[in-house]
Amino acid sequence: MRKIIIAGNWKMYKTQSEASEFLMEFIAQIDDAPEDREVVLCVPFTDLAIVSKSLHGNRIRLGAQNVHWEESGAFTGEISASMLTEVGVRYAIVGHSERRQYFGETDETVNLRLKAAQSSGLIPILCVGETKQQRDGGKTEQIIINQLDNGLVGVAQDKLVIAYEPIWAIGTGETCEAGEANRVIGVIRDRLTNPNVTIQYGGSVKPSNINEIMAQPHIDGVLVGGASLAASDFAGIVNYQ
Ligand code: PGA
Repeated sequence: MRKIIIAGNWKMYKTQSEASEFLMEFIAQIDDAPEDREVVLCVPFTDLAIVSKSLHGNRIRLGAQNVHWEESGAFTGEISASMLTEVGVRYAIVGHSERRQYFGETDETVNLRLKAAQSSGLIPILCVGETKQQRDGGKTEQIIINQLDNGLVGVAQDKLVIAYEPIWAIGTGETCEAGEANRVIGVIRDRLTNPNVTIQYGGSVKPSNINEIMAQPHIDGVLVGGASLAASDFAGIVNYQ
C-alpha cells in the first residue's frame, strides 16, 4: 500500500516565533483531517527543535531540507543525520532543484546524501524534475530517468519518497497540468523496483488545485512550498477531499 504524504517545504522562511505562531493556527485547523494521510513539515534548521517540541504527541512529522553524508567533520554549513534525528526529525528533502541550481548539488552528492539519511533512519524525499528548456526540447523523461538512475545507486527503495517537481512549476504559480504530472510520475514508477514508493507532485500546489492533483492515480501526495507558509492554505491542502 502506498502511503499518502502531504509535505510542506518552508525553504528559508520563518523564524522560531513565526514557526510557533504558524503551528498554533495550523494544528487547530487539521484536527478533522482524515487519518489516511501523513502530514510533514520540512522547516529551517533553527526551527527544528522548537517545532519538534510543539509536535510532540501530534500527528505531524518533522522534516529537514538537507542532510550531509558524513557523520561529522570539517564541513562548514552542513548538518549530519544524527544531528537531525536527535531532535526528532523523520524526513529529509534531498536534491531539491534549488540545491541543485544554487549550491552545486549533483546526482552524485544527492546519492551520498540519500544513503546517509537512510542509514540513520531518516526517510529521504528525493526531488527530481526538468527545466522548461529541457521540457520544450522533449527531454523530460530522459532527464528524470538519469536523475533516478544516478541518484538511486545503492539506495533502498523501501524507506524512500520521491517528489516530481518540474522546475518551471516551482514558485511560479504555473502548475503542471494534473494529467501530465500523473503521466511523468507513471514513468518514475516504472523505473523503480519497489511498486510501493510514495511519489509526490510539487510545483505551485494550492488549495484550489489539490483535489484535481490528488485525484490522479499515480500521485500519492504533494510537496508544497509557498502555500505551506500560511496556516490556512496548508490546512486547506491537508484537508483535501
Ligand atoms: P512551490 O514550491 O509550492 O512554491 O511551487 C514547491 C517546492 O519547491 O517544493
